[in-house]
Amino acid sequence: MLLVRPDRKQYEQTQRFLNKTFKQKFESVLPKIYCNDRFRDSHLVAVEYDKIIGAVANIPIDWRIDDMIIHGAGIGMVATHPRYRGRGVMKSLLDQAIERCKQDGTQVVFLSGYLDRYKRFGFYPSGIENLYTLRADKGCVDKAQDYTFELLKGERKEIETLRSIYEQQAVRWERKDFFDTLCTWKSKAYIVKKSGHVLGYLVKNRYGADISEIVVPTQELVATTTAWIIRNNKDSVKVCVSPYDMHANEELILHSENYCQINAENWLILDYTGVIETLLRAKVKRQKVVSGRAVLQIDDAKYLISVDGDNVDVTQSDGQADIALTKEQATRLLFGPKIVACENSWLDTILPLPIYIPSIDMV
Ligand SMILES: CC(C)(COP(=O)(O)OP(=O)(O)OC[C@H]1O[C@@H](n2cnc3c(N)ncnc32)[C@H](O)[C@@H]1OP(=O)(O)O)[C@@H](O)C(=O)NCCC(=O)NCCS
Repeated sequence: MLLVRPDRKQYEQTQRFLNKTFKQKFESVLPKIYCNDRFRDSHLVAVEYDKIIGAVANIPIDWRIDDMIIHGAGIGMVATHPRYRGRGVMKSLLDQAIERCKQDGTQVVFLSGYLDRYKRFGFYPSGIENLYTLRADKGCVDKAQDYTFELLKGERKEIETLRSIYEQQAVRWERKDFFDTLCTWKSKAYIVKKSGHVLGYLVKNRYGADISEIVVPTQELVATTTAWIIRNNKDSVKVCVSPYDMHANEELILHSENYCQINAENWLILDYTGVIETLLRAKVKRQKVVSGRAVLQIDDAKYLISVDGDNVDVTQSDGQADIALTKEQATRLLFGPKIVACENSWLDTILPLPIYIPSIDMV
């Protein structure tokens, strides 16, 4: 068995192999990856006697946080031909894909799928998504007819308008092809207009929350969701919101029927120093954080984390550990919903440091 980056012919075979394995048409389910061969080199295939017997994709995607970047990658399309299963093909492919991520300087890797299958590779549930259930707001019902929702079909001018609205967000994943991303996983994007003027857009998700992304001015959120509920003859709507969109959270928490915080995806953190430092800087910028320092041990590595006013520093350390965690504990506790307290009281005040990825940015 050979593990190779597919050439053009092998890539076509790979796409047929993936469509057959997952009973999907990836050209329409994941157009952001399969509408051209831009990501051919991000695939790794197992070949035996000129036949594709396994595949995996690691798709690079950057996460922009203020003026900082975390280099990410999504792993997907993990598949082995039925006749070759149970022989370690998936293990070889994933090991090599992760090795490639390390060499590329990828800092975080995410994937969906059964935890049992992937935790042996270091992936654990984490990430934070805020989910609100909203009903029609009485105060907005009368104005609902002012709001319209037009299916985004791919007109360049409208896409560019919405893209520039999305890009004003301080925390966002880099979308190489904005329209195709909005259509990922059979989602549909709608342009939101008020009295004919574009406010932004929302993404209706076929699988998870009703609205997996909504980008309109904060003061229009409740009226927009009310109009959407009325237009679609629904009782209520579930809306996903980034934990970094403070204003949206402040608004929706006051208007929601109920809300919860859930984890999103399985994550492998390859660069704890860089990821903790970036997310802590983002936190310090957004809210008051108690100054302090602690040495955090994660498996065999130790990190000195310090906050002094606005200054944040994270470095590798030889010092005595204040708290020792396994990678699994660290991934869940640092970057996911804060269900349990951290044993170190100062670290507890700075957690969580949420990782957030909208469902349409996943692979
Ligand atoms: C899942 C799949 C890729 C596994 O491929 P494979 O080549 O048979 O896997 P491997 O032989 O490399 O297995 C590696 C290890 O994972 C374990 N494993 C394999 N499938 C597993 C499963 N479904 N649940 C838990 N562990 C599993 C194996 O027992 C093996 O463990 P070991 O290293 O202790 O022996 C294959 O069954 C497949 O293509 N399924 C259909 C597509 C799919 O569901 N892909 C995953 C999408 S998230």
